[in-house]
Amino acid sequence: MGKIILTGDRPTGKLHLGHYVGSLRRRVQLQEEGDYDHMYVFMADVQALTDNASNPEKIRQNIIEVALDYLSAGLNPEKCTLYIQSCIPELAELTTYLMNIVSVSRVQRNPTVKTEVKMRGFESGSVPLGFFCYPVSQAADIAAFKATTVPAGEDQEPMIEITRELVSRFNQTYAPVLVEPTIMLPENATARRLPGTDGKEKMSKSLGNCIYLSDDADTVWTKVKSMYTDPTHLNVSDPGHVEGNAVFTYLDAFANDQDFADFWPDFANLDELKAAYTAGGIGDMKCKKMLNKVINRMLDPIRARRHEYEQDIPEIFNILKKGSEQARQVAANTMDEVRAAMRINYFDDAQLIKEQADKYKSKK
Ligand code: TRP
Repeated sequence: MGKIILTGDRPTGKLHLGHYVGSLRRRVQLQEEGDYDHMYVFMADVQALTDNASNPEKIRQNIIEVALDYLSAGLNPEKCTLYIQSCIPELAELTTYLMNIVSVSRVQRNPTVKTEVKMRGFESGSVPLGFFCYPVSQAADIAAFKATTVPAGEDQEPMIEITRELVSRFNQTYAPVLVEPTIMLPENATARRLPGTDGKEKMSKSLGNCIYLSDDADTVWTKVKSMYTDPTHLNVSDPGHVEGNAVFTYLDAFANDQDFADFWPDFANLDELKAAYTAGGIGDMKCKKMLNKVINRMLDPIRARRHEYEQDIPEIFNILKKGSEQARQVAANTMDEVRAAMRINYFDDAQLIKEQADKYKSKK
């Protein structure tokens, strides 16, 4: 059994640097390393609708935003299949069957669902049933493609756990056709959670502290200039703190030695800059200018690709359509096996036909 990579995002907004370090950059690396049999990346619009039922327009608008982010970040439709969840109705079918082999209380225990219910104010009985069931639907997303490897953040661990349980229960109850996936977590702490430009725990649209992949250079500089640093670092000569200092967290995530050689040759690498900053004598503005250059160097090729793709939006819809058709075929094949395993493939079941024929023949 080969390696099948699968991952996706809810198309509820454009992607930011947090998404980039947390997963998008990794996906592009995985794609380029080529160490897999197949790679699937999809937009989870069905899942996005579970808590946006009255606002499908938001999802509709963001499909192209996220597709542009994917393609401009370097996902290559020749190397990975890009598709839209709702274009694969087989996923809904598999969800239905999986729902029968999991209990309400098991889904209720899912910590990610718990947090999200709180965040959305869905307590006191107002949780939409579809939202409540989304972990099962997510298990179907993964199982339908027999994915072995799901690159995702820590918050997705409970989803992968429930997927493994469901796959194992399905295989035991019916026949071993589905595959238990494993999660592939981001390599390091910075990649796991990039703080916002305000230094708050997380970069998030609702907190308004994001740098978007689609931000132009002026916007990036405006945001970097106002970034949270070290509130005790009042004069340049004061010793500074890099811990909890968002500028340094970002430099950790994005700057490499080449950036120092090109943009700030006084220091060979980030460790040297950190030492100097901690000792005192390095101004925040200088660090921000460095960070701005680093971010823009990283975003420039992404912007150039985005600019090209933007000139032919209908082609992006084509890419998604083709990807969705390919993906649907794969899911349909799995569903043939699933129905056979459950023995509800009536018309292909010669044994059933014969059995029933014999049963009624003997009656006369
Ligand atoms: N839950 C994921 C998110 O919120 C999106 C998602 C849906 C997903 N199905 C998936 C991720 C399957 C990985 C695999 O971003």
